[in-house]
Amino acid sequence: MNLDDSQRAAQTQFDRQSARYGRTHLLADTSDLDGAARGIALPAEGRALDVATGCGHTALWLARRGYQVTLADISLRMLENAVRLLEDEGFLGETGQHPAEALPYSGRSFQIVTCRVAAHHFSDPAAFVREAARVLVPGGYLIVVDGTAPDDQPEAEAWLHDLEKWRDPSHGRFLKPSVWQGLCEGAGLEVRRAEVHRLKQPDLEWYFETAATTPANRERVRKLVANASRPVREYYSLGEDDGRIVWQWPILRLVARKP
Ligand SMILES: C[S@@+](CC[C@H](N)C(=O)[O-])C[C@H]1O[C@@H](n2cnc3c(N)ncnc32)[C@H](O)[C@@H]1O
Repeated sequence: MNLDDSQRAAQTQFDRQSARYGRTHLLADTSDLDGAARGIALPAEGRALDVATGCGHTALWLARRGYQVTLADISLRMLENAVRLLEDEGFLGETGQHPAEALPYSGRSFQIVTCRVAAHHFSDPAAFVREAARVLVPGGYLIVVDGTAPDDQPEAEAWLHDLEKWRDPSHGRFLKPSVWQGLCEGAGLEVRRAEVHRLKQPDLEWYFETAATTPANRERVRKLVANASRPVREYYSLGEDDGRIVWQWPILRLVARKP
């Protein structure tokens, strides 16, 4: 596999951390996907491609809805775990180990493409959206769920970017809703939903463990938290909850249709 530096960093990071993303992880709660799909007439059946499948929580959501799922990720260990998650419920999925930016599938071959809590690692999100649009059949849907950044608060955007980068250096960038909208339109997709919801980050120490953050970077993050300005604190509802440092992430739910 030909990988650029950020793809290689993500592969190394997630191969190492795969055990942290199992059944009990925050991502096992797929109510965000239910919310993204609510009221949208998704194709009733067919093939679904879950890009950056991680430990397979979105792939399982697709399989339960009756789609024939292909699980794709850059990390072999994550793919192995994802396949096990599906098998435990009696589902079989094909797998593909490749970057999101270059999908090795024919055009017009999937009814749905999903990508959840992963695109902020991609070295080229525009290439991913173009590829997703290419492999979708006309009438097919792209569903993206990911952390996002406010359009009108550059300080808050920079604060969370720095925090994420120190916590996990394989982080790329959280994209604003307007940027996602532009990428979809540029790839010929019609955006049907672009909503920002909040998700509680339950404990900074847990968040460090998830990424195996180095002691030096934990210190840097703690300083960022301690020195956050009032507007940043207010924007993220940054605070303490039973001695744990918590905040509210803005999460984009985006649904786009290929005409
Ligand atoms: C947090 S996990 C994804 C969670 C999963 N989608 C879910 O719904 O539970 C992030 C995944 O993105 C994958 N990833 C990061 N960069 C990637 C890239 N450029 N191409 C493909 N996969 C990538 C990682 O290997 C990791 O498995």
